[in-house]
Amino acid sequence: MSKLVIILASTRPGRVGLPVALWIDALAREHGGFEEVELVDLAERNLPFMDEPNHPRLRQYVHQHTLDWSATVDGADAFLFVMPEYNHGYSAPLKNAIDFLHQEWCYKPVGLVSYGAVAAGTRAAQMIKQVVTTLKMTPLTDAVSIPFVTQLVGEDGTLSPNDVMLSSAKAMLDELKRVSQALLPLRLPA
Ligand SMILES: Cc1cc2nc3c(=O)[nH]c(=O)nc-3n(C[C@H](O)[C@H](O)[C@H](O)COP(=O)(O)O)c2cc1C
Repeated sequence: MSKLVIILASTRPGRVGLPVALWIDALAREHGGFEEVELVDLAERNLPFMDEPNHPRLRQYVHQHTLDWSATVDGADAFLFVMPEYNHGYSAPLKNAIDFLHQEWCYKPVGLVSYGAVAAGTRAAQMIKQVVTTLKMTPLTDAVSIPFVTQLVGEDGTLSPNDVMLSSAKAMLDELKRVSQALLPLRLPA
């Protein structure tokens, strides 16, 4: 069973990230490239600041929240990060969630769904690439970059995508499936 985990990286009340995440979650299910799709909301997950005494590479976790997070990430074959741009960077909760684990991320592709104002979150997306590659992840070139995102959210709280978003999401999901399958031998136990 191939599984896609979508991580919603904005946690503040009233966030635009939720409509963006619900949109891409529905699209990923419709796309059908992965047999299972799970949307993980970092606000609900409510991880504390990284509080494990051992290096994550050792997988000697002492806290239940880390064991739960480890199981979620371990079960994924691919990821989508739904990420805002804060001060030309990516959100602190996302960095914290990444830092908790190590091997669970390795040899998995990640598609970046970024949003913001004029720069569409692309500065945050570029910034996270040097972090995820350290964990042997493969960030995709195909991405969804949403400028002036708030203008796309209606009073009912849903996102109205434009044609560019739909075509870039399709390309990203196609590529995510391809790269996830290509990396599969590296994810098998040695
Ligand atoms: C702390 C903070 C910093 C921000 N910095 C940027 C920025 O650097 N670039 C940008 O395009 N938008 C920036 N914005 C505007 C966000 O893109 C916009 O508020 C967006 O809705 C944030 O995503 P969220 O609602 O999911 O938290 C910032 C917003 C916040 C709250």
